[in-house]
Amino acid sequence: VVEVDTRAPGTAISPDLFGAFFEDLNYGADGGLYAELVQNRSFEYSPADRPEWHSLTAWELLERDGATGSVTVSTDDPLHPANPHYAVLTSTTTAGAGLRNEGFDGIPVRAGETYDVSVFARLAGGTADRLVARIERRDGEHVHGQAELGPLNGSWRRHTAVITSEVTDPDARFTLTATGPGTVHLDLVSLFPQATFKGRPGGLRADLAQAIADLKPKFLRFPGGCLAHGQGLANLYRWSETIGPLHERRQQFNIWHYHQSMGLGYYEYFQFCEDIGAKPVPVVPAAVCCQNSDVTGQAGIPDEEMDAYVAEVLALVEWANGPADSPWGALRAAAGHPEPFGLEYLGVGNEDTITDTFRDRFSRIHDALREHHPEITVIGTLGPATFGEDWEKGWAFARERGVPVVDEHSYKSPRWFLENSRRFDSMDREGSHLYIGEYGSWGNDGRGALAEALYMIAMERNGDVVRMASYAPLLAKRDHTQWLPDLIYFDNTHVWTTLNYHVQQMHSLNSGDTALPVTVTGAPQAPAVQVSNRHDIRIGTGSDTRAEFTDVLCGLLGEGLAPAPDFRNWDTQDGTWQLNGETVAGSGTGPLLTDAVRGTSYAFSVRARKTDGAEGFVL
Ligand code: AHR
Repeated sequence: VVEVDTRAPGTAISPDLFGAFFEDLNYGADGGLYAELVQNRSFEYSPADRPEWHSLTAWELLERDGATGSVTVSTDDPLHPANPHYAVLTSTTTAGAGLRNEGFDGIPVRAGETYDVSVFARLAGGTADRLVARIERRDGEHVHGQAELGPLNGSWRRHTAVITSEVTDPDARFTLTATGPGTVHLDLVSLFPQATFKGRPGGLRADLAQAIADLKPKFLRFPGGCLAHGQGLANLYRWSETIGPLHERRQQFNIWHYHQSMGLGYYEYFQFCEDIGAKPVPVVPAAVCCQNSDVTGQAGIPDEEMDAYVAEVLALVEWANGPADSPWGALRAAAGHPEPFGLEYLGVGNEDTITDTFRDRFSRIHDALREHHPEITVIGTLGPATFGEDWEKGWAFARERGVPVVDEHSYKSPRWFLENSRRFDSMDREGSHLYIGEYGSWGNDGRGALAEALYMIAMERNGDVVRMASYAPLLAKRDHTQWLPDLIYFDNTHVWTTLNYHVQQMHSLNSGDTALPVTVTGAPQAPAVQVSNRHDIRIGTGSDTRAEFTDVLCGLLGEGLAPAPDFRNWDTQDGTWQLNGETVAGSGTGPLLTDAVRGTSYAFSVRARKTDGAEGFVL
């Protein structure tokens, strides 16, 4: 019997409980959510991104129809110091040479859709003062659409045009060709679909952004993850370098071994949050980098640079919330958003080891935020994993400083989530609130999704102290997946949501505001009704022999099964397989008898592992 006390006042559930986490890994941003179709558009790729990458990666010289020429890269008198490299295209023939870009695994275009082309160009000699931009078939035999850009002169200038594609082609190419002999300097060569999410020029890929929007997340955390604190101090994600005009943004290598164009910067993140009704939750580095180690041996931002760093963090609050005539608010207004963004939360640090350097740097930032922006809720960190030394130290530090919310990360087995579904019940109600900023069970399967669902119910039941939670990672591109599991998979033309996604969505769309006391009596210790069910479960192909299996585990998942789930070893005796005393035929099929409560749904799971390492689940 389940009794719900509807007269009790209940416990208020955090209105910000279920949100989303975005990080540029798995090609989440460039080549993913950020809709730019040209790869390495600013010629800033380098071996720091990946050893084999360089300024002309993804580009090639185009010499056709009698054209000859060359392409090199220069840094003399660049478009902007933050964007030092540009391409030098020289045509030695009347028929102009060109450049061709392969996109991110090709350039997908659709019939009838329009594409914004833009390029910064400077004429350095010769008579070719125009460029022709084309979207064409991979083999160059068909032009899907084209436009002319120019006239060029001796100064850097941005040239724009619109191309309409005549055909749908998931694997097109983009070319830029000079119209005659001469030398042209090229930078920030861009091709963008006009059909972005909410139609924002230079914005986000519509289908992917929509999949995130459909989660109806109460907040969006960005830019990471480990990306936030980077690999080494020079790689810290500096928010203020990501808000200006695109060609003034400092690009960086990505800790996940590719490149950050910074086209998806803080302005775009805040804009996206607003577009989907999610509170922005930026995470700034706590002045230390990944695992507090820097190649230069510095554990954190040097002492003498800390005041400037703290000022940069405070400036973020003014940029997001200050009036349009404040120094930083004016930059937001200039970018197109005079109204404040309404920042409430600010994460400081990600999975940092709780060392003395971390304590010192975090404290300086935290103190400054408390003094100048008491309206901002600071989110601290509990180190890399739930439980363990850093987690303990992180909690102690948070208590000592009165950090309002702390960020905990759990990438665990489904079983761990099930076994820990009661852990919040005994949390200190007066201490720091919990933000479960990254969590996910191993395997994008039903078992993991069910375990996450149960864990989320536990969070909601404790929604007075579990303030926020976000599954991670959010996006993963096919053939570029670096982390498993993920919530949404995609390629250039498709989006696939997972079972885990639907669990997140179900909770987010139906999140409660008050947890009422619930009493369960009569089950399951003494099942009200005993039912015998026979399930025939085939493991393997039928021709497999028991000797080929090292492990066969089975169990029941269900709220109230104590201890739940019970994964018993379904072991063999004398060539037969047994479960609870029942002999299972050696062919790989057999009966399972279990007690169940009428009207209750249970998930039954079997895991089999073979001697050659192959493993499979049945749910
Ligand atoms: O979500 C993937 C990574 O997991 C994050 O970057 C990091 O914070 C965690 O270790």
